[in-house]
Amino acid sequence: MDSQQAPLRLAVLVSGSGSNLQALIDAIERQQLPEAEIALVISSRADAYGLQRALKHRIPTVYLPWNRSQRLEAEARTLALLRLFEIDLLVLAGFMRIFSPGFVDQFPRRIINLHPALLPDSGMGDTFVTSDGTTIPVFRGLHVLQHALDAGLKVTGSTVHYVIPELDAGPVLCRREVPIEPGDTEETLQKRVKQAEHRLIVEAVKKHYQERGRR
Ligand code: GRF
Repeated sequence: MDSQQAPLRLAVLVSGSGSNLQALIDAIERQQLPEAEIALVISSRADAYGLQRALKHRIPTVYLPWNRSQRLEAEARTLALLRLFEIDLLVLAGFMRIFSPGFVDQFPRRIINLHPALLPDSGMGDTFVTSDGTTIPVFRGLHVLQHALDAGLKVTGSTVHYVIPELDAGPVLCRREVPIEPGDTEETLQKRVKQAEHRLIVEAVKKHYQERGRR
């Protein structure tokens, strides 16, 4: 870590279990991620377990009601919180809401998202070539694990990418492939994908830290 640069102040946004938030908390507490600190956790759901995880580690938490009609208000509140907590990087880790283009455009290369499928480097395009040379379709949006199973793929994975206004289409920071085993269900596959993600999300924050300022 470059001692000239202060740790990144992260806001982690969740809507559910928050196991990837936990992976970041653990890496920071074990001093495996000195490049970052979690300054704030925001949840779009009051009952998200991610909030409990944050509170247990004395991380400030905010629940922001966020259905479609509340988006502009929620974004305005998010903006105020990001300023108040002096956030450097927003990490969308299982955050089931979509920011408006106007919001995203204010934070070029400062929002990253974890997407449970393989995305091409530029983020754009409808196909991805896996490490063994197989071309597979790119799945964006929801239910992508089920789409991978339905397509009969042998490999899927997860990607961390920068957020741009187009959904799941921003430049890729890093990704990991995950094998699909015979007999996998959405549940068993999700478990394996999440295990990979818990390392991936830490790697992504490190990579962003190293690469920022070089652009
Ligand atoms: C992850 O699989 C992520 O790829 C997807 O939502 C899931 C969040 O899991 N966007 P968790 O809440 O971090 O356990």
